[in-house]
Amino acid sequence: MRVALGVSGASGAALALACARHLARLGTRIDLVLSPMAERTLDTEVGPDALRELEGMAARRHDIRDLGATIASGSHPVAGMIVAPCSMRSLAAIAHGLDDNLLTRAAGVQLKERRPLVLLAREAPLTLAHLRNMTAAAEMGAVILPPVPAFYLRPHSVDEIVTQIAARAVDLLRLGPPVAAAWDGEG
Ligand SMILES: Cc1cc2nc3c(=O)[nH]c(=O)nc-3n(C[C@H](O)[C@H](O)[C@H](O)COP(=O)(O)O)c2cc1C
Repeated sequence: MRVALGVSGASGAALALACARHLARLGTRIDLVLSPMAERTLDTEVGPDALRELEGMAARRHDIRDLGATIASGSHPVAGMIVAPCSMRSLAAIAHGLDDNLLTRAAGVQLKERRPLVLLAREAPLTLAHLRNMTAAAEMGAVILPPVPAFYLRPHSVDEIVTQIAARAVDLLRLGPPVAAAWDGEG
């Protein structure tokens, strides 16, 4: 089972690591692609070893300039793609079908092949352009999953919040039994 994991330069770089950990635990083969700004936010927000850890969980890291990579083609069998976190720039490129780098091209491939595409779109506050781009992506079939905490689960740490959001993203690919903690109805 293969999954494409795109990482763009929005805040929330830890989400990429959390998604990769869940996917690795499921035995998924990860095709990883990062934007240059994602490398910077990983370093700034998580630390100097973050990129190496992320790459260590991937079966393959693709160069974002390589539009001839496997995941640029609909013929390459992947179960879906998560972009975690998804910047407003990458969201805009996906929403408008620009396919201007391997991350946005692979995302566009999921849409054209009608495969799951989960965008952890992160910005605050949101402009009308951001909102319109989210609408356009959702209309094409993407799932917009803003990385906001599940307050009702009463998280104790940022790590718990990040792990929960990443689990929800992975579950939206419908690879198997749910990974995310579920509301038990008891409060
Ligand atoms: C520390 C840091 C945090 C950022 N956070 C965000 C963010 O939350 N959302 C966003 O859309 N852009 C954010 N940016 C700006 C993006 O990195 C920038 O728009 C970039 O062009 C995105 O390109 P990419 O989608 O190819 O990664 C941030 C930049 C830095 C350095």
